[in-house]
This record gives sequence, C-alpha cells and structure tokens, in this order.
Amino acid sequence: MEVNSINPASPATRPMQSAKKLLFIAHAPSENTKRMAEAVIAGATNSDIANVNVRCLAPLETQPDDIISANAIIIGTTENLGYMAGLIKDVFDRCYYPCLEKTQGMPFAFYVRAGHDGTGTRRAIESITTGLRWRLVQEPLICRGEFKEEFIAQCENLGLTMAASLEAGII
Ligand SMILES: Cc1cc2nc3c(=O)[nH]c(=O)nc-3n(C[C@H](O)[C@H](O)[C@H](O)COP(=O)(O)O)c2cc1C
Repeated sequence: MEVNSINPASPATRPMQSAKKLLFIAHAPSENTKRMAEAVIAGATNSDIANVNVRCLAPLETQPDDIISANAIIIGTTENLGYMAGLIKDVFDRCYYPCLEKTQGMPFAFYVRAGHDGTGTRRAIESITTGLRWRLVQEPLICRGEFKEEFIAQCENLGLTMAASLEAGII
C-alpha cells in the first residue's frame, strides 16, 4: 500500500525537497550578448520561483561534473562562421563522452545570437544533443539580424520558463 497516496504528509511535515539545479552555459562575447545572458539569469532567478538553484558558467569554466550534476541546462551561443561559437563546441568536445552515459534525458534549451542566419548553429546543437540523448524542451530561440530589444525579453522568458518548468517538475 502506498501510504502517502492515502495520507499525504501535511506541508509542515513534508521534507524539504532539495533545490533543483539549472545550469546556464553562456557564451557572451559582446555587450549585446552579455545583456542577453543577464536577461536569462534575471528570468531564471525570478522571485516567484523557489527551489531552483541557477548557476551560470562561461564555456571554459564548464566541466563534465557541472553538467552531470545539473537537472536542466540552458546554452547560449553566438553563431560564428555558420556554426556555434568555438568555445561552446569545446564544451561538447570535452564533455561529450564523460556525460554520455550519465545525462541521457537531460532537459535543455538554447538560444543563438546570429547576425544574419543561425540555422547552422541550430542544426549542429540539435545534432550533438541528439547524440547525447538530451531532451529539447523549448523551441530554440534564434535572435537573428540587427540587435533588437525584444531579444532581451525573449531571453528573460526563456530563463523564466526553464526555471518554472523545473520547479513544477514538468521537465
Ligand atoms: C568572425 C565572425 C563570424 C560570424 N559569423 C556569423 C555567421 O556565420 N552567421 C551569423 O548569423 N552571424 C555571424 N556573425 C555575427 C555574430 O553572430 C554576432 O555579431 C554576434 O552574435 C554578436 O552579436 P552582437 O553584434 O549583437 O553583439 C559573425 C561574427 C563574427 C565576428
């Protein structure tokens, strides 16, 4: 018999769930992309969200254990020469095999800041993460063309949605 399904503990006696970990790997080489990364963090750390621990790392700081210990991931990259930024590719190069058996099903989302395209980066990230068997839980956000203020709101919404979904247990 599942005792908890008949007589659930009251909120006061229910054990505190440990905070879920949202890892944000942010490549932000320009003023605009820094603002976009800050917007993701602002959304993910919205005061309405409890029990989600948000950690932002630069690509070079990101180690396999950071990914393995996360409950969900956001990746932010520029598009350079038709592909994801080299530093984001380096994260995958270093972390792919150490993570492969340990992060299957990882919920993730990503955004691309692309001066004029973004499709090569989107395709590459989707391909590598398919190999990792990660789960893309939001439509990729491609911030294309001349910089627009709406990119900031879109990034904030991305961070907020990921953190809220993690908190709600729906990703
Ligand atoms: C060397 C270099 C290569 C680039 N290649 C591409 C590209 O292939 N596709 C694209 O959409 N944008 C490309 N861009 C534009 C960058 O994605 C864009 O400048 C970057 O995301 C920073 O955005 P910001 O200018 O709004 O700060 C390139 C930029 C540089 C410096």
